[in-house]
Amino acid sequence: MRLTIKPLISSLILSLTAGLSTAAAASESANQTLEISAETFDCIRDMTPVRGFYVDNLMGDLDATLAVANSPDGGVYPPGSVVQLVPGEVMVKHPEGFSRATRDWEFFELDVSPAGSSIRNRGFVDVVNRFGGNCFACHVQAKPQWDMICETNHGCEPIPLTRDILLLLQKTDPRCDENPTLTAEETGKLKALQQSLQGGT
Ligand code: HEC
Repeated sequence: MRLTIKPLISSLILSLTAGLSTAAAASESANQTLEISAETFDCIRDMTPVRGFYVDNLMGDLDATLAVANSPDGGVYPPGSVVQLVPGEVMVKHPEGFSRATRDWEFFELDVSPAGSSIRNRGFVDVVNRFGGNCFACHVQAKPQWDMICETNHGCEPIPLTRDILLLLQKTDPRCDENPTLTAEETGKLKALQQSLQGGT
């Protein structure tokens, strides 16, 4: 039972009191590796917002993920945790011991469209995003207590996207059923971003 870990044990106990079928599901997830495919990922705003980013948990333990995300002292994200800042990049936490180098995080680079997500690139220490940046190389710079989550002040090399732009990318996720209408100013900002990316800067 190498993969059994404390939060899953406690969730198993909780679900035992809640009912047999949930208990079975929880015990299964304790032993299982995560099955992740393009369909795993959908509209970013359907996840739970934490400050500027979004979280979820594929093993049903969103509370445990939120507890770490909201902790002022950091902590280790529980297995099943999904974290997204922009629609095209995701981190998913596997059960303990799955990938020691990345502290069990898997990195994903997605292509997103109204039809859904497709996985462009996935893996551990060697995933590179569409701008040539290695996910792990930046995220490993976060101080240990932040478990590779960078935010703006955990010690990582910054990304060249302002809060405004990040919010706009979240608002315009093409996988969402409905997106808010943008103001003329917002549309202008997005256009400028697209042009600067095409210019290779
Ligand atoms: C140049 C360094 C760099 C590269 C390369 C990079 N990131 Fe990040 N990433 C950051 C920083 C810094 C933040 C926080 C930005 C903010 O909150 O303004 C961040 C935020 C995130 C977040 C939200 C949680 C957090 O850590 O704050 C996720 C998820 C994420 N990146 C995934 C990825 C994935 C997946 C890749 C590769 C496909 C990648 N990143 C590549 C630096 C990088």
